Amino acid sequence: MKVLLATVKPFAPQAVGGIREIIESAGHTLEVLEKYDGEDALVSAVGDADALIVRSDKVTSRVISAAKNLKIVVRAGAGYDNLDLDACTQASVVAMNTPAQNSNAVAELAVAMMIYMSRNQFTPTTGCEISGKRIGIQAFGNVGRLVAAKAISLGMKASAVDPYLAPERISECGVTPARDLEQLYSGNDFVSIHIPATPETTGSIGYDLLTRMPAGACLVNTARKEVIDEDGLLRALQDRPDLKYVTDIAPDNYAILKEKFGQRVFATPSKMGAQTKEANVNAALAAARQICGFFASGDRKFQLNK
Ligand code: 3PG
Repeated sequence: MKVLLATVKPFAPQAVGGIREIIESAGHTLEVLEKYDGEDALVSAVGDADALIVRSDKVTSRVISAAKNLKIVVRAGAGYDNLDLDACTQASVVAMNTPAQNSNAVAELAVAMMIYMSRNQFTPTTGCEISGKRIGIQAFGNVGRLVAAKAISLGMKASAVDPYLAPERISECGVTPARDLEQLYSGNDFVSIHIPATPETTGSIGYDLLTRMPAGACLVNTARKEVIDEDGLLRALQDRPDLKYVTDIAPDNYAILKEKFGQRVFATPSKMGAQTKEANVNAALAAARQICGFFASGDRKFQLNK
């Protein structure tokens, strides 16, 4: 079988080498397409692929239609809002992700971002410490749990809300369950977002929640830019000169936010939450193994479009 690894943002060389070893040892071939330029390039490359590995690369219905031999696509990572699952299902293509493989890298970045903003983006001004502060975790999945554990070990008090989890599952991790989002936002100095981008969550965090945050609070977004209502964010930052926003994904209105609010906002130049050697290797190898398992025995454990 021919496996295509298509990544606009390349994996670390160790991760690509690891994929190659797993794929070729199983008797398959690997083609690598990195830093490619737009959908057309992916459409051209995918024509004869039996399997596809991507990161945040968009696997659209056009890509799926062009991939006449495609049987499986694996998003090497957690969030799969970049996959058109309906198109996959219609074409009988199995879609998978590799949950939890890059969670630690994202959680470490969330903690780093809190410290970066607390220390005024490392400018020579008086900042504050995160020890003793309160952090609210929005969604207590793989990343949220790790952020909570790291925050607690740094002396923070953690609370969390998760609509899909019983409060006991949160409290057994030493984290206080919040009643709802309103309580989470109003009761924490930091809120760290770990929800996926779905039709329900898109634009769901806006003016009302943000202006409930206590004085000097900071919103930390290592999830997806789509979950933020950007107009609401702008208005909240305008009306509350003490609020801060730090994000791994620049909002569409970042230039305006920077101009208006300067050091109260910061976005990484490109999404870097999962961009560690360890996370690359974990997610890449998991993707390669899942493909080999699927071809060898029909293993569909991480199938998304069931
Ligand atoms: C994920 O959903 O796994 C992360 O956002 C990582 O995305 P990336 O592979 O594009 O870095």
